[in-house]
Amino acid sequence: MKPKILVTREVFAEVLAFLGEELEVDSNQADIALAPEVLRERLRDKDGVMCALTDRIDAALLAAAPRLKAVCNIAVGYNNIDVPACSARGIAVTNTPRVLDETTADLVWTLMLATARRLTEAEAYLRNGEWTGWYLKQLLGADVHHATLGIVGMGRIGQAIARRALGFEMQVLYHNRSRLPAEIESPLCARYAGMDELLGRADFVVLQVPYSPATHHLIGAAELAQMKPSAVLINAARGGVVDDAALIEALGRGTIRAAGLDVFENEPRLNPGFLALKNVVLSPHIGSSTHATRLAMAMTAARNLVAALTGGTPPNRVNPR
Ligand code: DGY
Repeated sequence: MKPKILVTREVFAEVLAFLGEELEVDSNQADIALAPEVLRERLRDKDGVMCALTDRIDAALLAAAPRLKAVCNIAVGYNNIDVPACSARGIAVTNTPRVLDETTADLVWTLMLATARRLTEAEAYLRNGEWTGWYLKQLLGADVHHATLGIVGMGRIGQAIARRALGFEMQVLYHNRSRLPAEIESPLCARYAGMDELLGRADFVVLQVPYSPATHHLIGAAELAQMKPSAVLINAARGGVVDDAALIEALGRGTIRAAGLDVFENEPRLNPGFLALKNVVLSPHIGSSTHATRLAMAMTAARNLVAALTGGTPPNRVNPR
């Protein structure tokens, strides 16, 4: 008998076909997140689950799924999963590292450039019929080239962001839990800095840290006050790393110039204060959303799940055996 699994959100047909070769698949292709009670019911007899960051996998849910052996997230981040609770039950937890690094770095750069050059504000001005002609001081933005980029969190995605900065001849500062070896720093022309120095010097502060209790509100009113009034904040990492209410206040007061955001506290119900501001560029958590990358993420999660349930070693297990 094939192990039984649940796929909680819509995935590509080829992913379902791959899973179906080895596993008995129950899938929610309606692409509406399953309500917690429905998720609990459909997991009751399952050996594994392929889930998304919109699914809360907590201890109560695990208690109602006694056969569960693998929880495979279609994301690199896994703060939607209670990993210690999974470990306590011997359940493997996996994520999808590497396949989304370059695509996410592209989106960070999209936000940086769009925010610096006020692109969404400019487009709205044009679409609203307000454009009456060229003038010298029209929609003045900030230069990205030769500016100072401060990257908080210099993992693979942070490094991909820094690599792109070489073409813009930026000065790159980074802050990380630990300093990177010279063979990584040197080709990126990146210099390790303390958080205070980075916040005080960077023209663009890019956050690329996972969400955890340690990074909750890493950027709040005090940190925003440390930034230059001309600085731009970019967050495509996770909601909750920034105190959104404090950021709205800072953007309204001009404590910093602008922000580019792909992630928010309480997604998808973002703080309406953002919508009233012109100096923020907003996107709906699409950092990894290209066809190729989302397919690669789903296939990575599928390979993890098949390995976990057929006696193999899931390539991307995040908790120890
Ligand atoms: C991730 O992989 O953690 C992303 O946020 C999902 O797109």
